[in-house]
Amino acid sequence: MKNRRPSEGHRLTGTGLTLGYDRRTITEDLDVAVPDGSFTVIVGPNACGKSTLLRALARILKPSSGTVVLDGGPIAEWPAKKLARTLGLLPQSPIAPEGITVADLVSRGRYPHQSLLRQWSKEDERVVTESMAATGVEDLAERHVDELSGGQRQRVWIAMALAQQTPLLLLDEPTTFLDIAHQIEVLDLCAGLHEEGRTVVAVLHDLNHAARYATHMIAMRDGRIVAEGEPSSVVTAELVGEVFRLPCQVIDCPETGTPLVIPAARSRTPVPAR
Ligand SMILES: Nc1ncnc2c1ncn2[C@@H]1O[C@H](COP(=O)(O)OP(=O)(O)OP(=O)(O)O)[C@@H](O)[C@H]1O
Ligand SMILES: [Mg+2]
Repeated sequence: MKNRRPSEGHRLTGTGLTLGYDRRTITEDLDVAVPDGSFTVIVGPNACGKSTLLRALARILKPSSGTVVLDGGPIAEWPAKKLARTLGLLPQSPIAPEGITVADLVSRGRYPHQSLLRQWSKEDERVVTESMAATGVEDLAERHVDELSGGQRQRVWIAMALAQQTPLLLLDEPTTFLDIAHQIEVLDLCAGLHEEGRTVVAVLHDLNHAARYATHMIAMRDGRIVAEGEPSSVVTAELVGEVFRLPCQVIDCPETGTPLVIPAARSRTPVPAR
């Protein structure tokens, strides 16, 4: 029997999680804990189970065994609307309803806050406008989502997740499709949310961004957590070699002092002389 992590100090935990699809098991008996108030970044090679884990933490995927606990209660027992007001998930490849406009899609983030007694309000309008401004999509408000570029669409989805105003936000690769300036803008936005006291969990592929922004990192490989902790203890040449099979150097970022991964140059085989 392995040592189970105490859930104290953790808003969201998974214990003994076995996750998979049909008869295919992706993770087995996995324990995971998201520190309360952290900016947690999950890294790992393609297909190692990052999205699968995020889906289970957001109750999109039912574990075949194990439990996800949110604020002290099994997530499986949370009423749907209450859950949607507490935890927001931006999936890796979200699908927009056909023909929907940007403003309408972002407005959907407000649904969990409405009820028969509480219809669309000025407050909802304000949050939607602010969320679109925060992600720089306000000029796209009347455009159709399916006519946008990949990066524009990504920012619209982030606006929708922001409009949900949840204290916990799970983002699956929020910076994929974005140019470098927009990547930094979105990560700065996440850092701002974290500073306001929200708990943010993001899957990122860029280890340098992960190391710069995360307060807690989780490195996965083959459905297992291989390392976790502060970025400086996770992003080491040894671990990057083990997790990604990538020879590299890790130096201090001249800007922030956080680990910076420099992949080894391609070794050149000398061309034999004729
Ligand atoms: N809906 C599904 N049905 C069946 N298998 C799936 C499904 N989604 C994912 N898988 C499989 O589960 C494994 C883990 O996938 P997952 O999407 O969790 O990986 P990931 O770490 O998020 O990878 P990436 O970095 O490519 O997004 C993969 O082998 C994948 O093929
Ligand atoms: Mg994924």
